[in-house]
Amino acid sequence: MSDPVQNGLDAMRRATCEALERAPGAGSGDPVVTVAAPGRVNLIGEHTDYNDGYVLPAAIDRWVVMSGRRWGGSEVWVRALDRQEEARFSLDGLSPDRAGELPDWARYVAGTLWSLQLEGFQLEGMALAFTGSVPQGMGLSSSAALEVATGQLALTLHQAELAPLRLAQAAQRAENQFVGVACGIMDQFTATLGEAGHALLLDCRSLEYRALPIPETLTFFVVHPPQGRTLAGSGYNRRRQECEAAAQLLAQAKPGVKALRDVTSDDLRFLEARVGESFRGHPVATLHRRARHVVEENGRVLALAQALEQGHLETVGRLVSESHQSLRDLFQVSTPTIDRWVEALIHLPGCLGARLVGGGFGGSILAVVRREAAGAFQDQAANLTEGGEAAHLFPCRPVDGVRVLGMVSKSET
Ligand code: GLA
Repeated sequence: MSDPVQNGLDAMRRATCEALERAPGAGSGDPVVTVAAPGRVNLIGEHTDYNDGYVLPAAIDRWVVMSGRRWGGSEVWVRALDRQEEARFSLDGLSPDRAGELPDWARYVAGTLWSLQLEGFQLEGMALAFTGSVPQGMGLSSSAALEVATGQLALTLHQAELAPLRLAQAAQRAENQFVGVACGIMDQFTATLGEAGHALLLDCRSLEYRALPIPETLTFFVVHPPQGRTLAGSGYNRRRQECEAAAQLLAQAKPGVKALRDVTSDDLRFLEARVGESFRGHPVATLHRRARHVVEENGRVLALAQALEQGHLETVGRLVSESHQSLRDLFQVSTPTIDRWVEALIHLPGCLGARLVGGGFGGSILAVVRREAAGAFQDQAANLTEGGEAAHLFPCRPVDGVRVLGMVSKSET
């Protein structure tokens, strides 16, 4: 029986291999390797990862697919099929200072190779081509998927190995230092270590994790309302600074606080008593809201993990919706459009809960829906419109993290 997901992967693989054939100097007989790294949804635990907290994401059946081969020297040629653009850069002297010379999308690729060099890998020049089915700018981690695909492909091409967690960390370093977004570890971790049928309960401080089965009775939908793309970069970095300032201020009252992970609801009274003041240029009232979100969201992650294990789907849904309210009111990363759509979606058949997913300032909504009502939910959600436009909407399922799709000698591609 034909499997549309596998067919989609096969088609992406063929397209990237064909693009390599057209790479300048495509004469080498070196094997072509193809890898696929998934995007992710996050069930709960938003803006907790860089506060050393808990997250519960799942890799989804949307991928960045990248093919490549080595060609000696130190030059990298990379083609982005969807943009019909290409970039070239040298592996000699790769550095974050010169990232600005590359197109935005190529910084994820070059940054990951730079990060692998820092891990001690001596990389040779490569020709690379990629495409993908992870929608971009929708809060589904297309950038982490691109980084992890690049890293895994470069390692495989060099017959080198790196523990999956180290690969995730190398990809995160690329985004932090080369691209300049101060993201946490969640997205790269999920793209690397995702498990089919499971969400990952990750402690972002110890990096210990447990894979929790997603009950068969649940379906996840991603809903992207008609609106502009996410422009998360600067707002995201600011939220991170606010969280760090809140933790520093709280450490005055409670020595030993290193991150908001170390704070309880009771500790927040110290901030409450200072809401008229400011600290390091931030109003304490703002720091209080940010800290309260993180403290309560960490609690919700653990509660949701337990509800999942006990099969309490109503509780799962309630916590998902509470997370949204907190992102809207306390962390203030939602948008009026997202709020309207969340409100509309939670009233549709079978919808247990819905929330903004990812960094925010736009992006997508995750709706958690009873499987038996998934058809009715999808039909009715597809009929919702804003300004005459419908949302982009699809069900998704948890899949494995990055994998090598195949390795063939050039004559077989
Ligand atoms: C983005 C970042 C993650 C995480 C989320 C918010 O996706 O890349 O590290 O901080 O936002 O939870």
